[in-house]
Amino acid sequence: MKPQNQLVSLVKSELERRTSGSSSALVVRSPGRLNVIGEHTDYNDGFVMPSAIDRAIYIGLSPRLDSEGNLHSIDFQESHSFDVKHPVKSPKAWANYLVGVVDELKKGGYSIGGFDCVFAGDIPIGAGLSSSAAVEAGLAFALNTAFELQIGRTELAAIAQRAENNFVGVKCGIMDQFASLLSEGSSVLNLDCRSLEYDLIPFKAPDIRFVLCDTGVKHSLASSEYNLRRQECERAVNVLRQSSSHIESLRDATLEMLEAHRMELDGTAYKRALYVLEENARVESAASALRSDDFKALGELLFMSHAGLRDKFEVSCDELNTLVDAASEIEAVVGARMMGGGFGGCTLNLVHEDGLSEFNERIMLAYDKIGTTPRIYECRLMPGTEILNNQSLRELD
Ligand code: GLA
Repeated sequence: MKPQNQLVSLVKSELERRTSGSSSALVVRSPGRLNVIGEHTDYNDGFVMPSAIDRAIYIGLSPRLDSEGNLHSIDFQESHSFDVKHPVKSPKAWANYLVGVVDELKKGGYSIGGFDCVFAGDIPIGAGLSSSAAVEAGLAFALNTAFELQIGRTELAAIAQRAENNFVGVKCGIMDQFASLLSEGSSVLNLDCRSLEYDLIPFKAPDIRFVLCDTGVKHSLASSEYNLRRQECERAVNVLRQSSSHIESLRDATLEMLEAHRMELDGTAYKRALYVLEENARVESAASALRSDDFKALGELLFMSHAGLRDKFEVSCDELNTLVDAASEIEAVVGARMMGGGFGGCTLNLVHEDGLSEFNERIMLAYDKIGTTPRIYECRLMPGTEILNNQSLRELD
């Protein structure tokens, strides 16, 4: 049995054990994501280019007749129970991603009853592949199905994001939850984070692989610096708005405007805003490059994105830079950059398949410099959150 099928079987049998085999049980696959380009642009109303990947959380859920919410994490071997009518914060950090979804559904006026929920997954935690968004999106999707709430996927993504913003307290943008729910596989989402309109761009290079290299570090300043970057971007918006009242976010600013008001901006706010404007433009160029199968141009944009994140947005770290620098010297690498919020987590590498073994060997040497255990994941682009129906479940047995 494939490792993923084993996970599903584990979730199924654990849920059956806890619910004595309820007939209305369902199992949902909710994937993690990569992001080709467009980092720290989502909360600036800008553009991103993510896709779900073949690493996921599997959630088993069965509605109850009372109002108990019973959560069980197979990976942590921990449980948490709460009253669905009164969702309150749990001392168990992992539980809040789930209770927060219930809280947001209630705030939205949706009616849900109690439920039993068990889950397990293979998304490495803390690697920047959005395991938390996958949990939130997966539960929102499962509850939507089980209680027939008729919520569309885009709104489910917004609910999952609000759960993280309001209940967990992380002020993330919408990219991760959106990618988890709306990806369609073998393509990337070209998403406008302001309107939430998107198109799917096929990734037509079967010989180019997506390889993630996990630094194995997550520096403690990651979340405080994330919130600080948001404030720095807002600071720039406030200054620009004084002369152009229509500016609501950096999405509305232009390079000309930024230069015209450079002296009124503090140096940090200027650098952050410049990065965001340039990164938004890079996402648009990347979309054109992908549409014309120009992978060389795409790769160059990835390296430029990394340089911007390192020098202007200042969210990279030595470990990420070491891995990207090493990748940039390998012939088979089309492009590489740090991915996600920064200060640790993964680099994204686009690698020609015939150079994969050389890539692995040389990246191992870079890991020697970093001093952490090499964790290199090759991944595939996958469709977003889905119910594993009885047919697909039977196929696993
Ligand atoms: C984290 C957040 C996203 C996004 C990225 C940076 O993954 O959850 O919303 O802001 O960082 O691009």
